[in-house]
Amino acid sequence: MIRNMVAGGLVTLALAAIVALLAVRFGLVPANADAKPSSLERWAAGTSLRATVARDAPKQPDPLALNDANLEAGIKLYADNCMVCHGASDGQGSNIALGLYQHAPQFGKHGVEDDPEGETYWKIDHGIRLTGMPSFARALDDEQIWQLAMFLKHMDSLPAAAQAAWKKLPSQSGSAGRKGPPSAARTSALWKPGRDPISSTSRSAPK
Ligand code: HEC
Repeated sequence: MIRNMVAGGLVTLALAAIVALLAVRFGLVPANADAKPSSLERWAAGTSLRATVARDAPKQPDPLALNDANLEAGIKLYADNCMVCHGASDGQGSNIALGLYQHAPQFGKHGVEDDPEGETYWKIDHGIRLTGMPSFARALDDEQIWQLAMFLKHMDSLPAAAQAAWKKLPSQSGSAGRKGPPSAARTSALWKPGRDPISSTSRSAPK
């Protein structure tokens, strides 16, 4: 009896593995970047990111002093490394941002001020797997990553000088070669970037 149940279980597992392999082999698992992620994909990606961040992100507060010099250094680093995907203060996406899967939150509209700086530090340092979010561990040092995390934490409450520097960064909506809106037929097939379903709130670690 038990042997039959075990054998039945193994056959079921083997069949499931074969179905999954065939689905991948025959292109039934979509490889395009302009579709909406399935709810299974969103659940798996969000849950594993939250669990990883909760386990690994530094719990300490930002070790740098909160002042104009560090905030403005963060803004300069943001302009050079992040703006192409995360936009300027007007929250308008660049050509690259419009086509990213997962969508990159436009921080001018949907910031991460509510997230602990250690969590933002971790995401910049390590990147987010299976998304366009790169790891900056090889490019930026510790201090620079904390400066970025500080800027993102205080983006909605910047002192005057930093606020002026942030507002001065150019909108990304005029990316070179941007075409007009897609035809109605294409629009209905495209996933509309709005409040990105995977990142931000839904994927942030529990507060
Ligand atoms: C090539 C595009 C790209 C670049 C460049 C990029 N990011 Fe991202 N970033 C993404 C994407 C896509 C996501 C969404 C990932 C997801 O869905 O979980 C993301 C997510 C994030 C998040 C998590 C947002 C949230 O709501 O939880 C933070 C924080 C972040 N990026 C910061 C940065 C910073 C700071 C830089 C520059 C140093 C940067 N990113 C550069 C694409 C990019």
